Amino acid sequence: MKKYLVIGNPIKHSLSPLLHNHWMKKYSLFDSIYEKRKIEEKDLKNIVKEVRNNELVGVNVTVPFKKLIIPFLDELHFNAKKTESVNTLFKVENKVVGYNTDEPGFNKTIQDLFPNKNSLMACSLEGKNIFVLGAGGVTSSIIYSLENNGAKIFLSNRTREKAEELKKKYTKIKVLDWGKRPLVCDIVINTTSIGLTKNEKINIDFSDCNGDKNKLFYDLIYNPKETNFLKEAKLRGNSTINGQRMFLNQAIYAFSLWTKITPEIDEEVIKLLD
Ligand code: ATR
Repeated sequence: MKKYLVIGNPIKHSLSPLLHNHWMKKYSLFDSIYEKRKIEEKDLKNIVKEVRNNELVGVNVTVPFKKLIIPFLDELHFNAKKTESVNTLFKVENKVVGYNTDEPGFNKTIQDLFPNKNSLMACSLEGKNIFVLGAGGVTSSIIYSLENNGAKIFLSNRTREKAEELKKKYTKIKVLDWGKRPLVCDIVINTTSIGLTKNEKINIDFSDCNGDKNKLFYDLIYNPKETNFLKEAKLRGNSTINGQRMFLNQAIYAFSLWTKITPEIDEEVIKLLD
């Protein structure tokens, strides 16, 4: 049996097993199984060992281990190195390599949202003000992609030092105090965990965006499907998107890395996640 795993803590909420097992069945990989395992930090070394010993073929890494796993790996793929974030493990030529498929997963999502027909760049956010909330495990991947697409980035996190830490890597971003916002925001992206539970709210006033469909409010959370952040944006008449597309895209990149099969996003898969 070829074993795959998603590790994290908590891990109960993860939809990765549902999705990957669906694709394994769909593409007749009947010798493969994908499971979830709740782990502690002290278990990370052993997980990597299991990949090295071929007991595990592939691993997805989620909160809070995306950075903590790095010291145990033999090599980092280029964007995992740049973002210091690993969400996928795979053995290549006897080395356990850490990949970041969150970043291309997010990048593909915004390329589909903002296609650029006028130049060679697949997507252009040139001249757009993007306000990113949060500085957690996935935020570095988001900023990396936004920066590559020419956006002007404003970043705010409750713990300001974590935002300042990111600024060391992405020097062009502007850090704002938690609760403050840039005067003009074209896109607001929530990368915090606020909204995972029902009554949580982000208390920043966006009423000046009322009735403007060109403003996009993007929540990386996909479960629940509509956080208060998105509900309020919808009420204001803004455009909204949740984290489902990015979740799907990062999973597609991981699955194709492991199996060399690129799964499609079809209605069946969307229904499965809904
Ligand atoms: P980690 O920071 O361990 O990587 P995460 O789930 O990826 O965990 O990130 C959680 C993010 O949500 C952080 O940006 C966190 O802010 P802090 O850095 O200040 O902890 C943010 N967050 C979570 N709950 C929050 C709250 N009630 N108010 C504001 N920000 C919150």
